[in-house]
Amino acid sequence: MFQKDLLERKRILITGGGTGLGKAAAQRFLELGAELYICGRRQEVLAATAQELRQTTGGKIYARPCDVRDPAAVEAMIAAIWAEGPLDVLMNNAAGNFLARTEELSLGAFQSVIGIVLMGTLHTTMACGRRWLAAGRGGVVLNVSTTYTTTGSAYVVPSAVAKAGMQALTRSLAVEWGNRGIRMNAIAPGPIPTEGAFSRLLARPELEVDAKKRNPLGRFGTMEEFANLAAFLISDGAGYINGEVVTMDGGEWLQGAGEFTALGRELTEKEWEMMRPKKPAPKPA
Ligand code: COA
Repeated sequence: MFQKDLLERKRILITGGGTGLGKAAAQRFLELGAELYICGRRQEVLAATAQELRQTTGGKIYARPCDVRDPAAVEAMIAAIWAEGPLDVLMNNAAGNFLARTEELSLGAFQSVIGIVLMGTLHTTMACGRRWLAAGRGGVVLNVSTTYTTTGSAYVVPSAVAKAGMQALTRSLAVEWGNRGIRMNAIAPGPIPTEGAFSRLLARPELEVDAKKRNPLGRFGTMEEFANLAAFLISDGAGYINGEVVTMDGGEWLQGAGEFTALGRELTEKEWEMMRPKKPAPKPA
């Protein structure tokens, strides 16, 4: 899909890069010539991913344990990376989410998810952004958002409010920092099977069938599709895309939003027949 050197000489940090979508993006970016840093909370997971991807891609990848909720830890990590050379791209992918009835959530539950998703994104973005601005050099930020930021979503309220904030940050800074060479975009992925998300968000395997039915394409997205979109958005070829949130969900959220979509699916042939005008529809030329 891309030229092999698309991301050559790009130094990239992916938060939550040890597993799931972050790991898939890390692999793709390495294949396209980038130099990678991945961070996450679990050193052993990061180290295993770095070793695996080093072997499979032959690329340069370094693991940095860091909890993005902790501003001092983020600042120390970014300073250590910068000591080896400035980053070109920051991908805020680290997330936390679970299904829960909101009235049963503790304050700690809210703080945990908002701390990772919104505050974590803020910490890394400020640490990189200030350095880019001070040096008068450009940079790219790619945030991993979600499709339910404008509609909200029941049962994942900490995530919905945190991702909505992340999206506001994306669009605000795209404007504020755009004239100084910093581009900021987001991807809003729909359902893509990963261990982290599906173990927390799909309580029973049968629910997968319903989830696929709710999607116009009748399937889930793949990590490859996600990683390719991410690679495009951070590449120089996407240089005029700024402040955009690119939805990648097979049309799922639109299907949920259309007033008549579900009703239409319920109608029988006979009912469609009754609603047709008596005059036959024109035949195609
Ligand atoms: N339902 C309700 N509350 C929950 C919960 C759940 N399933 N899981 C955790 N919590 C609450 C805890 O009770 C705790 O609250 P408290 O401080 O009031 O006791 C708080 O959240 C923090 O939980 P803790 O176990 O200390 O973990 P953490 O802060 O290290 O964990 C999570 C972060 C909760 C987001 C955890 O699910 C996680 O590590 N997820 C990482 C990956 C992920 O979520 N991926 C999916 C992305 S779509």
